[in-house]
Amino acid sequence: MMQKDKEQYNVKQIQPFLAEGAEEHFFQIMQGYNRMMAYYRCAIMEVETKFNVLNEEFSLQHDRNPISGIKSRLKSLPSIREKMDRKGLEFNLQNVEKELNDVAGVRVICSFVEDVYLLADALLKQDDITLLEKKDYIAHPKENGYRSLHLIVTVPIFLEHEKRIMKVEIQLRTIAMDFWASLEHQICYKKDFEFTEIMAKELYECAQLSADLDTRMDNLRSQVDLQK
Ligand code: GTP
Ligand code: MG
Repeated sequence: MMQKDKEQYNVKQIQPFLAEGAEEHFFQIMQGYNRMMAYYRCAIMEVETKFNVLNEEFSLQHDRNPISGIKSRLKSLPSIREKMDRKGLEFNLQNVEKELNDVAGVRVICSFVEDVYLLADALLKQDDITLLEKKDYIAHPKENGYRSLHLIVTVPIFLEHEKRIMKVEIQLRTIAMDFWASLEHQICYKKDFEFTEIMAKELYECAQLSADLDTRMDNLRSQVDLQK
């Protein structure tokens, strides 16, 4: 084990908790974990680049950007652990790769609803992308009002000696959908608080307002497009 690696895993802090002889085993596991997460980071880069390319091309053609921003994240180790436990799965790296679809997550915030579908279609047409699952919460919003288009895809990453197929969860949504979902997440996420029916209704109505906003802005955009 190289000194650099030991520092990376913060051995000094953890060593007192490791049983005699467990150190090497621990570092092997951590190395495997770090490698897997590096592969997921590469997959995120691949997907982000694909969207950035589409954004460039579209802005040349139409003089506006369909993408307002991209936010990506890797699932944290505690969240991975929690989800594996919740699904009743043994926690090891092979199982994580096989069973979890959202270790790598890319969220594409679009300007208009039309852009969501346009970008999704253009991505899914690419011959190195395979669609595993699609959930259209825009056409069919969740009961609480949540809207977004979710895709689980695979994308290859090319390493020195091998090609690996990685899973990525992609969420496409408009600025208005993101506004609602981000605030709803802050209000509701992981709190053991029972929402009253009135509060849930209020939240749902806010989602409706954001959907109306999308429709009205989309209408304005298509009127302007017609004049061009
Ligand atoms: P998870 O086990 O939570 O991943 O759910 P799932 O596998 O059934 O997937 P789904 O496509 O329904 O949701 C995946 C992700 O979408 C979540 O991790 C959130 O990021 C987002 N999401 C889904 N529902 C909601 C919601 O009601 N509110 C917000 N703010 N985000 C949501
Ligand atoms: Mg998830």
